[in-house]
Amino acid sequence: MCGIVGYVGTDEAVPIMLDGLRKLEYRGYDSAGVAVCGGGGLTVAKAAGYVQALCDIVEDGRRLPGHVGIGHTRWATHGRPTDENAHPHISDGGKIAVVHNGIIENYAKLREYLVSKGFAFNSETDTEVAVNLIQHYYNKHGDAVRAVAQAARRMEGSYALGILCEDRPDVIIATRKESPLVLGFGDGCNHIASDVAALVTHTREVARLEDDEIAVVSAAGVTVYNCDLEEIVKTPEHVDWDVSAAEKGGYEHFMIKEILEQPDALRKTVSPRISGGRVTLGDADIPDEYVKNISKIYIVGCGTASYVGAAAKYNFEKYAKIPAETVMASEFRYSEPIIDGTTLVICISQSGETTDTIAAMREAHRLGARVLSIVNVVGSVLARESDWVLYTWAGPEICVASTKAYSTQLAVTYLLTLHFAQKRGAMSGAQCAEVVTELQRLPEKMQLVIDDKHAIQYLASIYFNNEDIFFIGRNIDYALSLEGSLKLKEISYIHSEAYAAGELKHGPLALVVDGTLVVAVATYEKLIDKTMSNASEAHSRGARILAVTTQSCAARVAEASENVITVPDTHDMLLPSLGVLPLQMFAYYVALLRGCPIDKPRNLAKAVTVE
Ligand code: F6R
Repeated sequence: MCGIVGYVGTDEAVPIMLDGLRKLEYRGYDSAGVAVCGGGGLTVAKAAGYVQALCDIVEDGRRLPGHVGIGHTRWATHGRPTDENAHPHISDGGKIAVVHNGIIENYAKLREYLVSKGFAFNSETDTEVAVNLIQHYYNKHGDAVRAVAQAARRMEGSYALGILCEDRPDVIIATRKESPLVLGFGDGCNHIASDVAALVTHTREVARLEDDEIAVVSAAGVTVYNCDLEEIVKTPEHVDWDVSAAEKGGYEHFMIKEILEQPDALRKTVSPRISGGRVTLGDADIPDEYVKNISKIYIVGCGTASYVGAAAKYNFEKYAKIPAETVMASEFRYSEPIIDGTTLVICISQSGETTDTIAAMREAHRLGARVLSIVNVVGSVLARESDWVLYTWAGPEICVASTKAYSTQLAVTYLLTLHFAQKRGAMSGAQCAEVVTELQRLPEKMQLVIDDKHAIQYLASIYFNNEDIFFIGRNIDYALSLEGSLKLKEISYIHSEAYAAGELKHGPLALVVDGTLVVAVATYEKLIDKTMSNASEAHSRGARILAVTTQSCAARVAEASENVITVPDTHDMLLPSLGVLPLQMFAYYVALLRGCPIDKPRNLAKAVTVE
């Protein structure tokens, strides 16, 4: 996590970097800082808190003139989010400034080494080790680029570094390993950034720096070297990005904007992959012979992405008749899964950058599996290293809490289920066509649920003061409960848990007291009565029941519920796409009523690039 920017050109660097840092705040927002290099040497400004706090102390850049600079927005790993721990960090010796994204795993050993060489440290961060290591080598020979290459060789872990050297006031040096870094090519100016989001208002010509490469960025050009300092050629690619998609567009929060975008996003995900009533996955050319021989599917992801997997598992087994298991990426990578060439590992990730998911993909490859990724960010590590990638085409998702990524990932899993079912003969052509027709209708039905948002807002006003909220459901409704509960807790800070409805009486029921809210997710017709019986057991012990069900089942759940939210009926496979909408909106409106910082929940960040 953490966001890095850098600018070198003829304009004032700080206002450009502040704009970039605001775009990267989704990566972390504990503190922010900038450094510029000019006639008077290196100057640094930093502050704990949002980028706005930094803007205030530098008066939007007016107090920090200069044409070459680096900036950072932090998600704290080593050391609390204080002014001292904020980046940039300056070396002992004062010649080098560094911003860093990632974790230097051997920092304790390196710090010991540097202390033995007489270096003093002022912060608790691993970044100060990087900057002093560069200074250490620079002291030996006075060549900043060589010093960066030597320091990089000794650092273990992940890093993207933006570096200024007082003696080279006209350049930024950048390098990376496992954390992203993009070069932006302008007219008389050049940039670095963690993500193209920070660049597109300035340039659309970008190139990704690869592991161990070192870039020397000046106003006149960018020179890239490999780790042996041999020059290599980087060809910029043009990014075709709708800038307005990353703006709030009049909405109070990105979250509600992104919730409302879901019907459209789903259309973009699904339409190009349906032709003549059949699913066609031309963009992931998976050989039919391979599909027929898949013996097991592992679905791997983190957080919301893993809850997409929780729903997909039921569909792969029920419709494509392939054994499927969903495993959190952080567990999968160390679980010694039983894998061979007939195992398909599906990695799901919005960012394509999540460290645990990338590690799970690499472990799957090491064990001989094929990997198919469902990813939103084009060209991300996960997308590039997988055997096949199906992009979700959801557009930028800015709010830390994922909504449209969830919906579009889910849609891709439906397409895959149908594709596998077709190829393996697990569903007839007519059965597949029936689901495809419903899938094409799904955006309209999603819109109906969204149009009813005021009803959800009203229910939020009834329940927003609860301090414990449980979500229960069975089968795909259990998967939905996991997502509903995560969404609520991360943005409203209400304690919330999700349970398979049948498990309630095996322990969690002890937590139910008078007034506890239990959200009974009951959209899957076959198991509605079972779930509602479990809800009644909670109600008998004082719980208030809010049910989520389909229009055709509303009457069946009404008796056991204080309030009922309905969604349109659809094919069973597709129910999670409708069921999730009221849960997302409920979380949003509850958080709104509690005055929470919805787009930037405390302690979180969007791209989780640490283990
Ligand atoms: C929750 C949320 C997170 C992410 C998780 C994985 O709302 O957004 O749980 O789903 O951190 O991130 P990606 O999808 O980028 O791998």
